[in-house]
Amino acid sequence: MSVTNFRSDAGSGAASKITFQTLQEKKRAHQPVTALTAYDYATARLEDEAGVDLILVGDSLAMVVMGYDTTLPVTVDEMLHHTRAVRRAVKRAIVAADMPFGSYHTSVAEGVANAIRFVKEAGAEAVKIEGGAVRCELVERIVGAEVPVIGHLGLTPQSVHRMGGYKVQGKTEVAAEELARDARMLEAAGVSAIVLEGMPRELAARITSEVGVPTIGIGAGPDCDGQILVFHDMVNLTFSAPAKFVRRYGDAGALFRSAIAGYVRDVEERAFPSEAESYHAPTSTGAVSTKVR
Ligand code: KIV
Repeated sequence: MSVTNFRSDAGSGAASKITFQTLQEKKRAHQPVTALTAYDYATARLEDEAGVDLILVGDSLAMVVMGYDTTLPVTVDEMLHHTRAVRRAVKRAIVAADMPFGSYHTSVAEGVANAIRFVKEAGAEAVKIEGGAVRCELVERIVGAEVPVIGHLGLTPQSVHRMGGYKVQGKTEVAAEELARDARMLEAAGVSAIVLEGMPRELAARITSEVGVPTIGIGAGPDCDGQILVFHDMVNLTFSAPAKFVRRYGDAGALFRSAIAGYVRDVEERAFPSEAESYHAPTSTGAVSTKVR
């Protein structure tokens, strides 16, 4: 009997478009969903070519690209700018964009209008919104406007001041019940997936078994339907100690430091550029190519 494999086609040349139906089928088939953040063309292209299922233009952009202390300052226009760059790179993965703080908190109408901007002006296929029961009306309205929504529960970084810092959520029985209820309500409101961040493994496993939509974990243990990491955390392009849940798969920080130091050294020692890296004007003895590359 052959079982359809919804795993990535990376390297095979086949590049079937990933949709939320694919993620749903993966959940049913117990095949993990892979997701990463990206904020620029080059990174998004590498992730897409590697077979990542879902690429999120996260509002973590504020911290890892723009250098802010929290995700709160990034604006809709800044998020749109980066979503467009990612959109141009990605052929296969789902491109989702984070709705930044303030873009859906004042009214449902404004939230719907901003969600539509991400699709219409930047080519996003979905938006992500933080929060549970309080966001259900908004989720229904955005989905009603034909924009898929990804929910986000647990440690929701836009709530940093209310939470009193970046703390694991759902540790008491009452808090766990509330998050499990939020997940069920988000599903009923029409979300296509739910990010579970910073919560006990047992709670994430319970939510994953209770909802029909895929859960994508970050700091929520291995029992979610998929996993997401912030790209810069994964490749050590941050300037602080990683959180416990981060696994580093490369050291881009060390690679870039050494490349930059080598360039500075070569320029200072006049070892760069070399004769072979220089152009020449044509001479009377022959034509010289005017091609730059
Ligand atoms: O902004 C972000 O990068 C996120 C992920 C951590 C899920 O929301």
